[in-house]
Amino acid sequence: MGDPPAKTAIVTGANAGIGREVAQGLVARGWRVILACRDTRAAGRAAEDIAREAPGGAVEVGPALDLADNGSVRNFVKGIGDRPVHLLVNNAAVNFVPKWHTEDGVAGMVQVNYLGPYLLTRLLAPSLRACAPSRVVHVSSVMHRLTHMPRPAAFLSTWSPSCYANTKLANILFANEFHRREGPLGVHSCAVDPGGVRTRIYAGSIYARPPLSWAVDLLFAPPSDGAQAVLHAATCDWPPTIGRDSLEHGPGTRSERRELLQILRKGQSPVGQSGSRRGSASNGFSFYARGLFASPLVTRWGGGGEGWQGAAWGAVYALVLALHAAMDYPIRRMSGGRWGGGTRAVPAAPQAGDARLALELWNSSAEIVGLPRHS
Ligand SMILES: NC(=O)c1ccc[n+]([C@@H]2O[C@H](COP(=O)([O-])OP(=O)(O)OC[C@H]3O[C@@H](n4cnc5c(N)ncnc54)[C@H](OP(=O)(O)O)[C@@H]3O)[C@@H](O)[C@H]2O)c1
Repeated sequence: MGDPPAKTAIVTGANAGIGREVAQGLVARGWRVILACRDTRAAGRAAEDIAREAPGGAVEVGPALDLADNGSVRNFVKGIGDRPVHLLVNNAAVNFVPKWHTEDGVAGMVQVNYLGPYLLTRLLAPSLRACAPSRVVHVSSVMHRLTHMPRPAAFLSTWSPSCYANTKLANILFANEFHRREGPLGVHSCAVDPGGVRTRIYAGSIYARPPLSWAVDLLFAPPSDGAQAVLHAATCDWPPTIGRDSLEHGPGTRSERRELLQILRKGQSPVGQSGSRRGSASNGFSFYARGLFASPLVTRWGGGGEGWQGAAWGAVYALVLALHAAMDYPIRRMSGGRWGGGTRAVPAAPQAGDARLALELWNSSAEIVGLPRHS
């Protein structure tokens, strides 16, 4: 008998930055990877590089995917057709770009970072279900902790200074709601913070100009390092296997994992008859972070809040965050990866777990892209 066919992954924004390294890492692990990019020529060059670095690896350029345009997202999914999809990595995003709105009145950055990926994921859900157990990884950011999401209608249409942070919070709200709906069908959805990574995403901002650009070059991780957290989220065990290692590193918080392990040790199914998960591990949704971005000072506090107290608290928290961001990669590098190398499931910001907000956002998004609320 020959080897089983490689599992298929789609990685958005895989021609550059973190996405390119995630694609490379998946190919090296034996996955067949489809590069989902708006510029197929740039994707072709990335595919050639990846094939050179992993001879015999399975990498190909998918149909053009421009997340700014819902028509392009639909065409991409049509182009994928009935091919298997075991993993979708929603990685592509923008920051520091000029303001524009779609014909539907959606702020351009919200369209690219959140609504385009929402439509893509929902259209690919049947393929993911057919390949269950399968997974969707949403690349979020620590910035989601620094904001307080307004009501969905305002979020979707407004280009505010918190726009990028709001889109990264929306990624987690969507991931959580998608996991709640699709998890019982075997499609696990999670979100991940790749840490501070020196990529083109900072182009056009003050971080691309001295002296801040020197700090970014010196202190932020290269894309190959940032990709490690995403690769962990994409490939770690789900559901967790029983054992000490799964208690330390599996999805969910430590107490959720302990509870889930107890259920499994008793020989019971973690999935109840209604399809929901038992116990507080009922959702099993995971948010992953690495190194100092997983430190309790970052994950147990929150920066978002309303009014002047929220703003003052946010300023203190932003300072704590900046210090952590500045030390994360240097510590990992200087210790040869011994410190700060591991990726862990950590709590996301409290608002990311707001089920009502997640549902409202899901429904408003469905209306704009013209999909039913349930599918
Ligand atoms: N870098 C960091 O410090 C950091 C920190 C936290 C989270 N993140 C997250 O990590 C992810 C990857 O970012 P990165 O730092 O690797 O940025 P990057 O180097 O700028 O790469 C972004 C990718 O997204 C693609 N993209 C942009 N607009 C698109 C569109 N309309 N349709 C389809 N693809 C589009 C880009 O394609 P083009 O080449 O065609 O522009 C590129 O491939 C993002 O989700 C970001 O929010 C990054």
